[in-house]
Amino acid sequence: MLNWNELEPQKIAPPIPTDARFDDTPSAHATHAADAGHHHAQTGLEGITQGAGRVDVSEKRIINATADVNQLLPMKYTWAWEKYLAGCNNHWMPTEVSMQADIALWKGRDGLTADERAMIMRNLGFFATAESLVANNIVLAIYKQITNPECRQYLLRQAFEEAVHTHTFQYVVESLGLAEGELFNMYREIPSITAKDAWALKYTKNLSDGDFDTTTTEGAQDFLRDLVAFYVVFEGMWFYTGFAQILSLGRRNKMTGIAEQYQYIMRDESIHMNFGIDVINQIKIENPQLWTEDFKQEVTTMLRDACELEIAYARDTMPHGLLGLNAEMCAEYLHFITNRRCNQIGLVELFPGATNPFPWMSEVIDLKKEKNFFETRVTDYQTGGALSW
Ligand SMILES: [Fe+2]
Ligand SMILES: [Fe+2]
Repeated sequence: MLNWNELEPQKIAPPIPTDARFDDTPSAHATHAADAGHHHAQTGLEGITQGAGRVDVSEKRIINATADVNQLLPMKYTWAWEKYLAGCNNHWMPTEVSMQADIALWKGRDGLTADERAMIMRNLGFFATAESLVANNIVLAIYKQITNPECRQYLLRQAFEEAVHTHTFQYVVESLGLAEGELFNMYREIPSITAKDAWALKYTKNLSDGDFDTTTTEGAQDFLRDLVAFYVVFEGMWFYTGFAQILSLGRRNKMTGIAEQYQYIMRDESIHMNFGIDVINQIKIENPQLWTEDFKQEVTTMLRDACELEIAYARDTMPHGLLGLNAEMCAEYLHFITNRRCNQIGLVELFPGATNPFPWMSEVIDLKKEKNFFETRVTDYQTGGALSW
């Protein structure tokens, strides 16, 4: 915690009697002893060392940096800053999307089959709390361990985007008049959703322990496991089945408002995932001792388990298949996606030869198609211009 007595001692502290030097005070000894005993990574809330040297970029690191975490410049990881700027440029709000067509279809009698309605509910139910779990992981587990200011800047942007995503589900519930308790409590009622969330939660729970730190190999590997569970699995694999389901409806002109919101969410999520993958790979470069053969094997097993959980969820949401989708195709799509994630973090592909059964998804994902993306937008942001009140 910030201690006012440690701030600029020569200006703020009361005059020191000549016979009592700073270093001889009992509290000073206690502080030194604590520092020598256990090296926690810095949080940025430590006392300020008056006169400490300026930041050298070479001292910046993702975890366990010695460079002051409160100084954004000089910048080292420009990829993190670029993602922060990209996130800001993609700003959107769910309330800008018209829900009129969705409301008419949802409240009408014949527009949707019972299977389609069930799939929509379970899809929304998964995302409604998944966004909160991801946000909590950033704020309560990840942020504290990342000792780099440009990465923290991105995490702050990502945390806000997760709030926007949670807002989306509030807005959908309100617009369609859905049973809010049913939707938001689904992660405690539907076993295939509980199983996924519980799997991820065990990796973040570990980090919320007050004594957790990344200065030991064990701690740093725990941190990598958490990054894999949330950035690679949650945001990089599990979200994609859900995106495919809703965007498949959208392609058939059903629930087009939700489909448009999912496109915005997917655009945000692809940056979240790529940020997480860059962070993982940078930690590997800076701490090669962590990425052992055993550890790679363990991460591979995590991805394999995550696939099984997702396939069970896909069966649960689409027991009879619909919209040209079925659980087998979702499994194949997930295998294809998982291979890409393996490549991105330097693992051997888990499902060699898997192909993409939804080639239309890569078109929707293509971030360069921003013009189409914004065609239906209700309002425009005044980017590049001054705000007029
Ligand atoms: Fe999200
Ligand atoms: Fe996300």
